[in-house]
Amino acid sequence: MKPRGPLMVEHRLIEKALALAGKIPESIRSEGKADIYAVYTVVDFIKTYADRTHHGKEEDILFRELGKKQLSGRHKSMMQELIEEHRTARQKTAGILEAVRAYESGDTAQLETIAVNIDFLAGFYPAHIAKEDDIFFPETENYFSAAEMDGMLVEFREFDSAMIHEKYGKVYELLKERT
Ligand SMILES: [Fe+2]
Ligand SMILES: [Fe+2]
Repeated sequence: MKPRGPLMVEHRLIEKALALAGKIPESIRSEGKADIYAVYTVVDFIKTYADRTHHGKEEDILFRELGKKQLSGRHKSMMQELIEEHRTARQKTAGILEAVRAYESGDTAQLETIAVNIDFLAGFYPAHIAKEDDIFFPETENYFSAAEMDGMLVEFREFDSAMIHEKYGKVYELLKERT
């Protein structure tokens, strides 16, 4: 298998989850209130899965290895663009989290901020994913030998196996704050 295999499997789940998240702004606007649990779930999905687990493997393993190669100008700038897009997604997600916390404390003006940021991310992810699946991943695979790709797949698995422990370490910290 190639490193893009597991990344593309993750893309499919991200697409499905963000398609559902994309329905939230409409209900916020028509009902004048937000389902706080649904919004926190979207934030958790993006932070833990799309960003930490998925972008994590892209940036910390795949892009790191690509950084060691003599990339063409096109591929170098595309990789920078993808990293910049990850950063934007992270900022928008932080914006949702901040807004939902304020909304929970009674600040209803935050509803629009929640809706605007979710709308943005629901539109952002399919475009970002298409750029990776259709252009960046297939084109940049040519820089690697089969052994290098196998090595990245092993690292992907190690990376993933740490995620559940990291996640529940954070859940424990959250519990400590709340009890
Ligand atoms: Fe990405
Ligand atoms: Fe991706």
